[in-house]
Amino acid sequence: MDRTGMPKVGVDTATLQIQFGEKSVDQRKARQLAVFALRNFCVAAHARNLAHSLCLVHPRSLAGMELHVVINGRKDLAGQLYNQLRSAIESGRLAAGTQLPPSRLLAEQLGISRKTISDTYAQLTYENFLTGVIGKGTYVNARVSKVERKQNPSELAGYEVIESWRNLPVFLRHPTLEGSLRYDFIGGATSKGQFPQDDWRRCTSHALRQIAASKGFYSLPEGLPALRNAIARHIAFSRGVNCQDEDVVVCNGAQQALDLISRVLTRPGSIVAMEDPGYPPARLLFGTHGATVIGVPVDAEGIQVDRIPLGTRLIYVTPSHQFPLGMPMSQERRVALLARAHELGAIIIEDDYDSEFRYEGRPTDSLQSMDERGIVAYVGTFSKTLLPELRLGYAILPPAILDAVVRAKQLTDLHTSTLPQWALAKFIAEGCLLKHIRRCHTIYAGRRERILARMAGDLSPWLEAVPTMAGFHMVVLCKVPMDIPLVIELAKKVEVGLYAIDSFFYQQAPQAGFFLGFGAIETLDIDIALNRLRDILQQVA
Ligand SMILES: Cc1ncc(COP(=O)(O)O)c(C=O)c1O
Repeated sequence: MDRTGMPKVGVDTATLQIQFGEKSVDQRKARQLAVFALRNFCVAAHARNLAHSLCLVHPRSLAGMELHVVINGRKDLAGQLYNQLRSAIESGRLAAGTQLPPSRLLAEQLGISRKTISDTYAQLTYENFLTGVIGKGTYVNARVSKVERKQNPSELAGYEVIESWRNLPVFLRHPTLEGSLRYDFIGGATSKGQFPQDDWRRCTSHALRQIAASKGFYSLPEGLPALRNAIARHIAFSRGVNCQDEDVVVCNGAQQALDLISRVLTRPGSIVAMEDPGYPPARLLFGTHGATVIGVPVDAEGIQVDRIPLGTRLIYVTPSHQFPLGMPMSQERRVALLARAHELGAIIIEDDYDSEFRYEGRPTDSLQSMDERGIVAYVGTFSKTLLPELRLGYAILPPAILDAVVRAKQLTDLHTSTLPQWALAKFIAEGCLLKHIRRCHTIYAGRRERILARMAGDLSPWLEAVPTMAGFHMVVLCKVPMDIPLVIELAKKVEVGLYAIDSFFYQQAPQAGFFLGFGAIETLDIDIALNRLRDILQQVA
């Protein structure tokens, strides 16, 4: 309804839409005008023998219900109405308890006789789809029987592909807060209580103002210039990465960066080599592109470069903090890896997912900063420094693949939502990110120390920590044989969440050990949890 009280009427030769406002000054007049417009529309549509449709939204009498009925031509009007109402009820589109328009109103709207409407309502009432309440109206009954709309998937031509997706194991789905354990060593979760809500809220308000001032078009696939600039400065400062703003592509988390890089480099059957054990979401993702994924074993220095097979065109590694084991890749191995990739004509993905949190030893150069040939795609994420649910990450791309990745980004999702991009750009530019990283660093360092002390102390008969310098998880390997699923089960009973590392192994024989994330568990809870673990190990190992 506009300010004059006229209903908004949009007409083309086949469709008419009328919308009544929430606060009409004269609803009656508005309705008369609407009906008048409808009649004209129906006459025009009939004259052209076109289908006409009606979509009515009336907040008062229809309580938000949107009834959509399409009448074609003038034949079998009752049959058309009956079939549409029945299938809308059976499919659930008209929910139980919905009030249908009075027959007079619907007759006016559709330009068919009121008797046709009443007869159809009566038939549907007789068949128990509707109930008439005297003095009130006609209502949809609870569904009599659900129409089976599901096609048997095995009859579909794409069945095999559907099944391959359906059967993919699910990683990274975190339990809900209610479902999680009191003392949880879950990986990938950040210290939520530390999230700088006030700073983020302020930056989000800034983002809303930017969007209010924008033209309302699509944005840039590679990301907002302000955020690309903030990211380039941030990683040059914190990770010594060599880049210009133009090399940065903003993505929905690291996972999208992996997806895009793999899309532009691989075809079904292409060889992708990755660390084994490694990051399952990356392995599964490359597999869904049809790549042949080769698991290359790692040792204390990182990926065994000489085991990367001929024909490999993409190599995925986590040099700062090998996922999941945790050791950094040695300098010699980095040099060898760059040389091997060059020899193969391969691109290396350097997934630097959590190295902002580094605790000891000399900082290592990123592979990207050692790369003189433009063969390293550096991938980073804000899932670890801020929150995984923000879905913000980035790729720093070598010139050879930059444009292709931007095209792929544009084609797959046009661009990352600008609201969080604006907010993050401000958040980084104002120094809030560095401040937050410093605060979390102190907390994670304390938790890490605690776990390491216990592993070197009373838990040492059973477990030993893999030396690690970064991130906020560590792997502890079993020194004696033990029934790991049993230990996990018993720990669960005493509210301790433990996770085995076997699922991170792909083609290599799994090692026995546990993955201890210390983002989610409170520092003071670590000893309580590890005491409980020690009691269990005393019983079973
Ligand atoms: C090895 C590795 N890479 C990347 C990520 C982050 O992915 P995203 O940015 O998509 O949340 C994680 C998160 O757990 C990870 O473990």
